[in-house]
Amino acid sequence: MQFSLNAKSQSNNLIHFYHVAGKSKKLQFCSCCKGKESRADVTQQFENEQLEASFGETVFYRDNSEGHQLFVGLGDGKVSAEQLRELASNIYKKLIAERVNDIKFSLEALPFRDKASGLGALVEGFVMSAYTFDTFKKKPKKKKPDLQVDFTSKSNNATMKKALEDGQIVGEGVNFTRWLGDCPGNFMTPSQLAEEAKTAAKGTKMKVTAWDKAKIAKENMDSLIGVSNGSDEEPRFIIMEYRGAAASKKPICFVGKGLTFDAGGISIKPSAGMEEMKFDMCGGSAVIGTMRTIARLKLKVNVIAFVPASENMPGPSANKPGDIRKARNGKSIEINNTDAEGRLILADALCYASEKKPAWIVDTATLTGAMMIALGNTHTGFYTRDKKMADLVKKAGEQSGEEVWPMPLCDHHSKDMKGHYADLTNLAPSRHAGSATAAAFLENFVEKDIPWAHVDIAGTAWHVGNRQSYAPSKGASGVMVRTFVQMARNHK
Ligand code: BES
Ligand code: ZN
Ligand code: ZN
Repeated sequence: MQFSLNAKSQSNNLIHFYHVAGKSKKLQFCSCCKGKESRADVTQQFENEQLEASFGETVFYRDNSEGHQLFVGLGDGKVSAEQLRELASNIYKKLIAERVNDIKFSLEALPFRDKASGLGALVEGFVMSAYTFDTFKKKPKKKKPDLQVDFTSKSNNATMKKALEDGQIVGEGVNFTRWLGDCPGNFMTPSQLAEEAKTAAKGTKMKVTAWDKAKIAKENMDSLIGVSNGSDEEPRFIIMEYRGAAASKKPICFVGKGLTFDAGGISIKPSAGMEEMKFDMCGGSAVIGTMRTIARLKLKVNVIAFVPASENMPGPSANKPGDIRKARNGKSIEINNTDAEGRLILADALCYASEKKPAWIVDTATLTGAMMIALGNTHTGFYTRDKKMADLVKKAGEQSGEEVWPMPLCDHHSKDMKGHYADLTNLAPSRHAGSATAAAFLENFVEKDIPWAHVDIAGTAWHVGNRQSYAPSKGASGVMVRTFVQMARNHK
């Protein structure tokens, strides 16, 4: 995908917008359409009730001599930034279907006030819509044309140029996260994920280190070690550091569950649908994609990210139900279900993140099936007891267009996670509020005075194409990259 802004030579193919206005529901066109005969076609179709002017509706007129015209419906004419991402995907799909390689897009035609953030959202939408996954195919399905979008705008060129470039970086960050998630478990092993994190740092100021199993054991991460013991694949503890502000400024921390395949361990999962558990590293991939994006955007903030990476397999040395392991902060854990492994690998990562004394920590994980039951694939639930932290996550979600939803975390949930034979248990006495009790477990590994939020993406990390037209119908969504980048942007 290629973009230009106010370039000298522009495409002859044009995008127009139309919407219905007022009580009379009269059809209105963008200003460039004034006095043009051809608009009669759309009006005619609208009057014949062949068109509704609904949001994202497209009508295409092929004209090989003067240039093709693509008309895009805007409903009642009011658009949000998130709708611009959706709109970009409708436009992208129509142009690809019609085999159009280039288009001119006048931002003046768009009823969106802040042209720069509108342009950013559109570019994000285009880039995310162009994502395909064919790394493992002999021949890619159909070669899609490499679409060129020439934006034109009367607004300040430097501001617009930055919005365009940043939108592209964010979209690419999401796509990179999707790619990591879509890769199969036999390829995207913990050590491969660590390699990818190193690749993600290329061309940026970011530093990436990955600890091997011996180092992880030496660092007293016995909870992570226990999970990895069921597999021949070694675990990795991935550390990504980006310094964009003065050394004296406290860092912010992201932690992501990098479980590259979750068979459940000895508490093995049923085989139906188990292939989806290659996506159990989507918290980790969101964090890796976030870090690459922050570094490429050169944000003025210090950020450290941690991704505990492991498989969860039922090998001969695997955790057994009833086993007791000790996390890095000394708390002992009864493992009463080896399939509740995400919290076990995150425990050590959260201890380590706390030691960095960050301004705040946010972790994300495909942690519980219960999260899917609670919110489905429309909203990502998050947990925190810190009011300011809740506001930070909520605000960033509103700005990024990703739907985040606050969930309750209280002492009742914490009580459920007290152990009988050890300090804690990884399994609550009941399945009810399973994502809240998981959050309560994690809380034990975050130092008391550090603001912390836990984001459970189990429902939103893959297969969300029925909700967002810019997301693939099947596969990883790249959720949380946009929100986390926004949190870093907002951090002062
Ligand atoms: N990775 C799963 C959670 C999951 C399941 C995410 C399905 C998305 C779809 C996690 O490791 C897990 O297995 N959790 C258990 C915990 C339970 C044993 C307390 C669950 O949710 O069933
Ligand atoms: Zn599991
Ligand atoms: Zn898991």
